[in-house]
Amino acid sequence: MCGIVGYIGSKQATPFLIEGLTKLEYRGYDSAGIAVLNGEKIRVEKSVGRLAALEEKIESNVPEGNIGIGHTRWATHGRPSDNNSHPHTDCYGDFAVVHNGIIENYMTLKEDLLAKGHKFLSDTDTEVLPHLLEEVYNGDFEASVREVIKRIEGSYAIVFMSKNDPDKLICTKQDNPMVIGLGDDENFIASDIPAIISRTRRTYIVNDGEVAVVKKDSVWITNSLGEPITKKVFEVNWNAEAAEKGGYEHFMLKEIHEQPKAVRDTLASRIAKDNSAVVLEELSWTEEYVNSFSKIFIVACGTAYHAGLVGKYYIERLARIPVEVDIASEFRYRQPIIDDNTLCIVVSQSGETSDTMAAMKEAKRLGAKTLAVTNVVGSSIAREADQVIYTMAGPEIAVASTKAYTTQLIVMFLLGAYMAGLRGTVAPRRMKELLGKLREIPSQISETLEDVEPIKVFAKKYGFNTDVFFIGRALDYEVALEGSLKLKEISYIHAEAYAAGELKHGTLALITTGVPVVALATQKSVYEKTLSNIKEVKARDAVVIGIAAEGDTELTKYADHVIFVPNTDELLIPLLAVLPLQLLSYYTAITRGADVDKPRNLAKSVTVE
Ligand code: F6R
Repeated sequence: MCGIVGYIGSKQATPFLIEGLTKLEYRGYDSAGIAVLNGEKIRVEKSVGRLAALEEKIESNVPEGNIGIGHTRWATHGRPSDNNSHPHTDCYGDFAVVHNGIIENYMTLKEDLLAKGHKFLSDTDTEVLPHLLEEVYNGDFEASVREVIKRIEGSYAIVFMSKNDPDKLICTKQDNPMVIGLGDDENFIASDIPAIISRTRRTYIVNDGEVAVVKKDSVWITNSLGEPITKKVFEVNWNAEAAEKGGYEHFMLKEIHEQPKAVRDTLASRIAKDNSAVVLEELSWTEEYVNSFSKIFIVACGTAYHAGLVGKYYIERLARIPVEVDIASEFRYRQPIIDDNTLCIVVSQSGETSDTMAAMKEAKRLGAKTLAVTNVVGSSIAREADQVIYTMAGPEIAVASTKAYTTQLIVMFLLGAYMAGLRGTVAPRRMKELLGKLREIPSQISETLEDVEPIKVFAKKYGFNTDVFFIGRALDYEVALEGSLKLKEISYIHAEAYAAGELKHGTLALITTGVPVVALATQKSVYEKTLSNIKEVKARDAVVIGIAAEGDTELTKYADHVIFVPNTDELLIPLLAVLPLQLLSYYTAITRGADVDKPRNLAKSVTVE
């Protein structure tokens, strides 16, 4: 996601703004900008590309002033461009704003502001903020900011700057990080600690709904009701490297724990308020268009391919359109049967995987419509596809994909339900039930991630085995595939996933005393059958680690250990069942002393065939 910085003090703002943004560079970004208030005027400088492009732009004429804000952008609404970069201003340049997150109701706000004569220069959701502030400003900066906050919905971390109030910056947050650094005759604001630790280690961590008025010599924080709060100073004792990882030992662990937010952001504004339908403004398909698809291909590599396998379930079960899932590197060499009634969905976190790109080009050549599901706005695959749906996972740095997978599952589910809505293949009551349960997933993810201790114990106990098997039926099988890939790639243990019913057709010969078998049994429709497969491996003295939904009292009778995940619909439970598998692979790799974030022989983005 984006990075934010702010400065107010007795020194020049620009050097800190640039330094702070540089420290956030590890998050990856596509454009950057700063706004500095110098006496009468807010000067805004922004540039698409790396921070160096902005530095070059201001090199010979550095913005001067003691108060400023800055931003590095990871595009969500609107492509990377100078205009879409932050800071954004109102019509008169009286207010400048930087924002991280998503303003869900921006379309409604924008229409209203356009009707009032406001002129917009960008495609971003953020730009509504300075215009709204201009609209409600009554001379009292803090009260006006509160009025803006009242009118917006979504997740955000925002810093507001006002030309008429040169002694303060105001910041607030909801579901996005924000920290205030306390200096000597100067104070700092940042979305992340790395931006400020070279200047101060004394910080206030801002909580959801709080509003902070930051002056050079004071910080006044109130809660959402405007009541003052006394905050404890949080002394940061991390080194710079640990700070980049948000205090986690590895990016992978940080990203595993970012999943509640990543999933919430991916769902944001895509479900109707009354849970009756999925809203995908980026597609705006009609019933006729969806009905024209005689077949859908989902094409991807690795983890994204595994998300595609789950996607097949979702689309077929909900929208009743036949789906084939292909490994991208195989697809174009097998002469797939495609015509202009085919939809080809490509899934790629990076949007740069060359096999996936080549497969999409081949599908296009043969006449298919193409839809990309990717995490990177403006990536090659996003540009090449006819249409795009973005996962809102934020930058994924660890090689082993975690939050990209869960957000890809979310997009797949949304797509299935969206097409089902247009085709009328899911009864309205069932749709409401499913979408209601989908809304609960982010907090159920948080709940699942709370209890990692048993997983650490299993990782220590079984971490030196040479082989591990994963089994499951239906969607549990697709999740088993992902669990086994995670374990292989970061712990270097030979791991295999099997459809539980396939064991007796060969693999059972490998199940001997003490071999760990991770058995997923979350799918109610095939539960009894999975249980008999678990009994088969138990009869060969395997060690069974079961993954079950809360309330399952059967599995404990047959498995050696059971990890429970919260209960939800069996279609949605993969979003929870995969979490213990991600954690298991992480802690196993730690037990074995492997390089978790950079496993041997692998790269984050595979741009060669
Ligand atoms: C595994 C992993 C890879 C990627 C694959 C596709 O953890 O990350 O298997 O999923 O290389 O990458 P993208 O999604 O960028 O196309």
